[in-house]
Amino acid sequence: MQKIKLALLFGGKSAEHEVSLISAASIYNNLDRNKFDVISLYINPEGKWRVVESPLESFTELKKGDFYSFLPWESVHMAQTIKADIYFPVLHGPYGEDGTLQGFLEMADVPYVGASVLASAVGMDKALSKIIWKILDLPVVSNKLLYEQDWLENRKEILTEIKSQFSPPVFVKPSNLGSSVGITKVNDFTLAETAIEKAFRYDRRVLVEEGIQGREIECSVLGNDAPIASLPGEIIPFREFYDYRDKYIEGKTSFRIPASLPDTTVKEIQRISITAYKAIDCSGMARVDFFLKEKTEEIILNELNTIPGFTEISMYPKLWEASGISFSKLLEMLIDFGFERHQKKKRIRGSFPK
Ligand SMILES: Nc1ncnc2c1ncn2[C@@H]1O[C@H](COP(=O)(O)OP(=O)(O)O)[C@@H](O)[C@H]1O
Ligand SMILES: [Mg+2]
Repeated sequence: MQKIKLALLFGGKSAEHEVSLISAASIYNNLDRNKFDVISLYINPEGKWRVVESPLESFTELKKGDFYSFLPWESVHMAQTIKADIYFPVLHGPYGEDGTLQGFLEMADVPYVGASVLASAVGMDKALSKIIWKILDLPVVSNKLLYEQDWLENRKEILTEIKSQFSPPVFVKPSNLGSSVGITKVNDFTLAETAIEKAFRYDRRVLVEEGIQGREIECSVLGNDAPIASLPGEIIPFREFYDYRDKYIEGKTSFRIPASLPDTTVKEIQRISITAYKAIDCSGMARVDFFLKEKTEEIILNELNTIPGFTEISMYPKLWEASGISFSKLLEMLIDFGFERHQKKKRIRGSFPK
């Protein structure tokens, strides 16, 4: 059997650059070399590309040598070095998970792993995804979307509205970011203004959300047109909430895999995960994140991540392992789904009237 030439894309322009390196290293280590030849494409924080030995290289090694831009006026030929049968973006956050890179791969008409342009873009945008899910009667947290221009013109009115719509705590977050960057838990409304100002440093649109007291549950989804959901897992944040330090620096968060939940709750979380996934036309994979409200046990949909953390200890692959799919098998399935989506799209395009 001929081996598949697979290009891993990692690094990237977002705050999650280093997490991407760790995810890519795990994927690199778990790809069956009898089936795949792996090309490693490192994207530096400026967005330029370089073929490297592997994601296991040190940061200093990765940064050495010539980088390539895809701007026609800066173009340097990378010749055949980046030509692959399929591309696997392992980049979290903006310029990797948000549809921009996916659009680039679509323009090149090559198969790639994971969500398409649309699902990547909507999944990345916390406000837009919630608007869509709400229309479908999925349980999203009550929220208010603020636009920078309105905020600059009417901040007093907006603060009054927030006080009448919510009671503390509220969460203030940039709509289009990840890794908990720019997110503040506001326990006292006198601090709301500062929190909103902070979030506007990262985006022109900011979400104010009811703060949920309860457990944090995550569910992995896999597939294209007939997606399946894993057993849910639980995150137990070490700090007051699952913030950047907790996620990437201190690493004191604990995980329960699978989460201890009644059967009916598991089924409902899986149902909502799949509905949320299909609602934004997701494909390949996503991790869908929830809150389980204290006392009422109400399930609340928080967000959907189209390129979830993919280290060996990350929730996405761990949940599949607990559901009977090994890390290597999972990678193969994702790659198959990438080819399948590309072929389907080609077939549909092929039937357009000329
Ligand atoms: N409405 C909310 N109620 C309670 N906790 C929240 C809320 N929104 C966010 N959090 C906390 O902040 C963390 C990060 O927020 P999230 O919306 O998941 O953004 P990110 O994309 O940065 O992960 C969550 O994992 C949770 O701990
Ligand atoms: Mg999150």
